[in-house]
Amino acid sequence: MSHTPIDQQRAWCALAEHAAGMGRRHLRDLFDEQPSRYETFGRSAAGLTLDLSKQRWTDQTLELLLDLAREADVPEAIRGLLAGERVNRSEDRPALHTALRLPADARLEVEGQDLVASVHATLDRMEAMVERFHNGQWRGATGKPIRDVVNLGVGGSDLGPLMVTHALADYRPDVEQHIDVHFASTMDGSQLADYLARLNPETTLFVLSSKSFTTIDTLSNARTARDWLKARLLGGARQEGVDEALLMRQHFIGVSASPEKMSEWGIADDHQLEFWEWVGGRYSLWGAIGLPVALVVGMEHFRGLLAGAHEMDRHFREAELADNLPVLLALAGIWNVNFLDIRAHSILPYDGRLEYFAAYLEQLEMESNGKSVTHDGESVSYSTCPVLWGQLGPNAQHAFYQLLHQGTQAVECDFIAPKVRYDDVPDPATRDHLMGQHRLTLANCFAQSRALMLGDAAVADDEDGPRPGHRRYRGNQPSSTLLLDRLTPRTLGALVALYEHKVFVQATIWDINPFDQWGVELGKTMAGETQRILQHEAGLEGMDDSTRGLIEAVWAAEPQ
Ligand code: F6P
Repeated sequence: MSHTPIDQQRAWCALAEHAAGMGRRHLRDLFDEQPSRYETFGRSAAGLTLDLSKQRWTDQTLELLLDLAREADVPEAIRGLLAGERVNRSEDRPALHTALRLPADARLEVEGQDLVASVHATLDRMEAMVERFHNGQWRGATGKPIRDVVNLGVGGSDLGPLMVTHALADYRPDVEQHIDVHFASTMDGSQLADYLARLNPETTLFVLSSKSFTTIDTLSNARTARDWLKARLLGGARQEGVDEALLMRQHFIGVSASPEKMSEWGIADDHQLEFWEWVGGRYSLWGAIGLPVALVVGMEHFRGLLAGAHEMDRHFREAELADNLPVLLALAGIWNVNFLDIRAHSILPYDGRLEYFAAYLEQLEMESNGKSVTHDGESVSYSTCPVLWGQLGPNAQHAFYQLLHQGTQAVECDFIAPKVRYDDVPDPATRDHLMGQHRLTLANCFAQSRALMLGDAAVADDEDGPRPGHRRYRGNQPSSTLLLDRLTPRTLGALVALYEHKVFVQATIWDINPFDQWGVELGKTMAGETQRILQHEAGLEGMDDSTRGLIEAVWAAEPQ
């Protein structure tokens, strides 16, 4: 059933008219006209403070955007998502990552199944496994306790656990056996080769993380890992009693939605952690895919992460649209992309622990909303997901901020930082220095968003006259600032859930499906064909001239 596209509906048209009327009004003027913008456009929930006052908008803009959200039936969409309706229409299934963080006493029955019980049964199995590692009871085939775990996965089976493990590394529990967790994702084997060169096979275990358990990147790394273990533990002077079955059992855990494929690969039944088709890969860190996180921070903190995300889910469900953080963040993005024509978005955390946050969001946002057909399969006539990229803000200041300040692209920025850090460092001298460094970082964070907003108008001219063009800053780049009370498992959980829901609200307004990713399939098929040609198993007929030339260049360079 097709319906009137959103850009032909009343609220969108009103916004287009309003945007034309606003022209390129400068943020400087908006602040002059409305001095209490922080109070007007700031909101807090779940340990997060969101300042949207540096967006290029007015109260009227926000009113019109809220109309748009109502016209797109965002409240009903939120209800359907959380209730487990089949919101992933192209794959005809729910998208129930929120069920993974429901507390044990909650109830969610979807299509006759009590999901909370299965979710918590898996969490309990994870807990039992994590305890065995932390007590030094999980031993390798030669009897030594496992010390290093390498996660083999890619995309959602890598980025979430990698980002969170790094962000929460301060939360290592006091246990007998600490586990060092490493991540290898690239199909070229370079990351894995690096680990294999320095890890001890007797004390290393691999977690094969793959929802589908068909991803060639992960399976080729898994094969290399298995051959390395066999060569090192079964070849030469092998220890008595160590055989392949024991090696497979003690050195591999599988995490997947396909138990059959895990078994086929050789993962022992009781070393398989399962999740469900209704959890999307890039939304999966909250369950068994989060095992590496739990191995580093322990289950208590892992559950803290879930609790924070759940708090944001509740806020998302219960808060009025005008106070709803994910809705407001989504609307700011829609305003920029669709009405101000700002199609680049930079993610800039000011805390080294959030080093992988931008990479995580790149998948979450662009794999979800990088779409150009509606739910009905019609081409959209408006822009959807912007190009999103980022890195640690302090480092980016010395890299790509030049473009933000003086380039020709309009860019929306998200600045993210904890309010307080290092106040718990035991040594007072170090504590004072480090707290000073944190304030230095915050000063830079706030100054950068201010400079991007105001331009150089706030700075006096030089004594010898106005500055030349190459020293001018036009400002008027919009940004949002997100402050975490502190970076804890709870606030991190809330932060990630905030972005998940922001993506969902935008997808609802754009009428696209954020839960599939058909766009990645064509490249996979073509890579298979190309691999066969490169390996001389198929001929070059039908290949385009560029690819043919590249393949021949490789053949010419390979040893004969
Ligand atoms: O190819 C894209 C993708 O399917 C992502 O959506 C997913 O997170 C990643 O590959 C890994 O998939 P899997 O967990 O099935 O190995």
